[in-house]
Parts: sequence; structure tokens; C-alpha cells
Amino acid sequence: MIIDSHAHLDYPQLASDLPAVLGRAGEAGVDQVISIGVKLTTAHQPRAIAETYDNVWFSVGVHPHEAGNEDNACNVDAFIAAADHPKCVAIGEAGLDYHYDYAPRDRQAESFRAQISAARQLSLPIIVHAREADDDIAAIIEDEMTKGAFGGVLHCFSSGAELARRALDVGFYVSFSGILTFKNAEIIREVAIAAAEDRILVETDAPFLAPVPMRGKSNEPAYTRHTLECLAALRGKSVEDMAAITRANTLRLFSGMTA
Ligand code: NI
Repeated sequence: MIIDSHAHLDYPQLASDLPAVLGRAGEAGVDQVISIGVKLTTAHQPRAIAETYDNVWFSVGVHPHEAGNEDNACNVDAFIAAADHPKCVAIGEAGLDYHYDYAPRDRQAESFRAQISAARQLSLPIIVHAREADDDIAAIIEDEMTKGAFGGVLHCFSSGAELARRALDVGFYVSFSGILTFKNAEIIREVAIAAAEDRILVETDAPFLAPVPMRGKSNEPAYTRHTLECLAALRGKSVEDMAAITRANTLRLFSGMTA
């Protein structure tokens, strides 16, 4: 069975039809989903879904796009309070997005560091969104590691090989989305082949980024299978073996899922 390590089940495209979405996931062999938070002001939405469905878990975070809009984006205690729930398994998604620059870069960085601090204090992993900010992402992760270790994942990996290397070097995981299947994603496939077997995850980032052959449709957890099949082919593994490997990695990183 496959785990979708990153989906936004509270977004309307999925939330409006959630029983069917999760039903199709189950039919595709995707039996667990982590529903990812992007704002503290809406943290109750993924939490409510996790409370409703035994096989859904959630995270608490402020996406870099929202760092300027959320009053508590840099408030460590606010993240710690929001994460106080048995089904909260991670902090984030947090990070830096210099492609859109929706929030000032210093505010994005301050919020990212606040969420790392919360993750470290709670012994939860941090889910990292990185877009066109490789050097600054790596520098912050490395600097924060000197203050005390924490676990984490580069989600929806779409960065360069150097960021992957620096993150893997400090113990991070790398998660591959449908982008892995895109025609122009040769660099990402190279990272997916080179990364250590015990550090790779799969995800959808649904409702965004549907993999080939579903590209253009609204993405959903069932489509994790297409990315997993691509990853298995790249690494010369059976789909069953790749499912078991990524599953074990996901449960090791998000250890709250087995609590
Ligand atoms: Ni996301």
C-alpha cells in the first residue's frame, strides 16, 4: 500500500467530494494521506478531516505565500499550540518561494525559522516548500541544525541537485510529486535516481500538479500511484518494492503516524 505524504484535502476541489476522493485512493492502493496545513487561521480544516478519517493525518504550518498575511506566521508558540493534537504529525509546509514572492523575503525566512523552532521543540519533522530559493533554503536548514537537530523533508522536489545533496547531508528526506513524470523534469529524475533509498517519499501535492497521464486534471491522492510507478521504473524496482520502501520511509519520518 502507498502513502500520499502531501495533499491538501481541505481545498475545495477535494473537500467537496472527500468520501469519493478517499474511496478512489483506496482502490488505487493509497491507504493513508497527510493533509497539509498552509495557514494557522485555517488549521482547523485539515485537523477536522484527520478527526473524521482514520487514515488521514495532518500538519500545521504557514506556507511562504501566506507569511505576510498570517498574524502568527512567526509565532513559535502559536504553531506549538496548533500542533497539540494526536494526529498532527508534522510542522509546515514552510519555506521560501522566490518565484511568486507573495510575502517579503525576510518575513518568509522569519516564519520558516519559527516553524523549524516549533518542529524541533515538538520533535516533529518540518515539511519544506522551496521554489527558486535553493541557496537560502539550504543555508537556513544548515544554520538551524547548529541550534539542535530536527527532521524534515523537501516536499514536491523541484529544486537543483545541490539543494538535494545539502538537505540529504543533514538527514532530510526528499519527496517526489507528479513533477517527476513531466517531460522536462530530467534534473529531478536524476535526483530521484541518485538519492539514498531510505530517504525518498512520494506525494501528490493534490489538487495541484497531476502526474502524467492525468496531467491537466485536478490531482488527487489516488494518482500517487503514477508517481510511484515512475520512481520504481527510474530506480529499477518493482512497484510493490518501491511502495514498501517509500512507505517505510514515510512512517519513519512522520513517526506520529504509527503512535
Ligand atoms: Ni503543498
